[in-house]
Amino acid sequence: EQINKGKYEHYMQKEIHEQPESLTTTMRGRLIRGGSCKSKSVLLGGIKDHLKTIRRSRRIVFIGCGTSYNAALAARPILEELSGIPVSVEIASDLLDRQGPIYREDTAIFVSQSGETADTLQALEYALENGALCVGITNTVGSAIARHTHCGVHINAGCEIGVASTKAYTSQIVVMAMLALAIGDDTLSSQARREAIIDGLFDLPSKVKDVLKLDQEMKNLAQLLIAEQSLLVFGRGYNYATALEGALKVKEVALMHSEGILAGEMKHGPLALVDETLPIVVVATRDACFSKQQSVIQQLHARKGRLIVMCTKGDASSVCVGGSCRVIEVPQVEDCLQPVINIVPLQLLAYHLTVLRGYNVDQPRNLAKSVTTQ
Ligand code: G6P
Repeated sequence: EQINKGKYEHYMQKEIHEQPESLTTTMRGRLIRGGSCKSKSVLLGGIKDHLKTIRRSRRIVFIGCGTSYNAALAARPILEELSGIPVSVEIASDLLDRQGPIYREDTAIFVSQSGETADTLQALEYALENGALCVGITNTVGSAIARHTHCGVHINAGCEIGVASTKAYTSQIVVMAMLALAIGDDTLSSQARREAIIDGLFDLPSKVKDVLKLDQEMKNLAQLLIAEQSLLVFGRGYNYATALEGALKVKEVALMHSEGILAGEMKHGPLALVDETLPIVVVATRDACFSKQQSVIQQLHARKGRLIVMCTKGDASSVCVGGSCRVIEVPQVEDCLQPVINIVPLQLLAYHLTVLRGYNVDQPRNLAKSVTTQ
């Protein structure tokens, strides 16, 4: 039953729309509400015996490719905040090319939907040789990465068939947020923050259901962008990953050039591209970076940029200077979970662009679901 398309025309479409359920499954049995005097907490059975070692590590290194790399980038800020440990994020092939240093005191976390990606697997062998504690985050029980790591967490998103990863991405972010909560669990000063995130996790599936209602709006937007050559996506902070992942979806399935840009780097090159024709999505939902994003929007607007702004519900008038831009309004959640919400409209946009442009949604040309050769 899991592998038929049901009422959907494509697997990618089905997998986008089943995210409220896949996220629920990812969290099932792992969030503890806490009794009258017990605080809320997270239980990740696969790593609970290794938490002390992880807390003592001198660095946490995430390693992955493609969408899995982007998910790790989305989770990095909350890992840093709740663990107090430096966190780096590595593209597996790049780590291998550099033979970058990995130490016994490192925790290396391998993120892979399939658990079989050759570069990630080879980076795992490298980290094992260097004595790091190796943790796997995969969607595939019994996969090579799940078998060769010391411990790990399955994301339990259910089988993903579309080559472009969608529901695995959001489940990976949620698992990494839960990992941050588990690592930070011994720190009293962050208890209120952790409890707010846990409440946010409980509410997340229903918020994703809300954001999926933008389907028709994203189809209309796709219609507008159908003949474009290029699309830029600006993000920062928690949503730099959203910019990269949104652009990756558009590029891999809709076969349209698209680039995710760190908004803080705008003045160091990307600004030269801005004119009245090039469409630019700016992710400007409410978080600590909001006012900086407002200023980015003003600067893009001053150069007559063709803006599509993603903002928090009710913020349209405060982000859309001069009323000339198009707005995508999304529900607000805890800042570290906002990337889960914000990617959904971009997944829908990429999906509809692909269908309208007449390309193969589930098997984009030249790409494979799992790249098992180097
Ligand atoms: C391929 C797929 C991507 C995926 C990447 C990493 O490129 O087309 O969708 O993100 O591999 O795969 P993994 O299974 O390791 O997450």
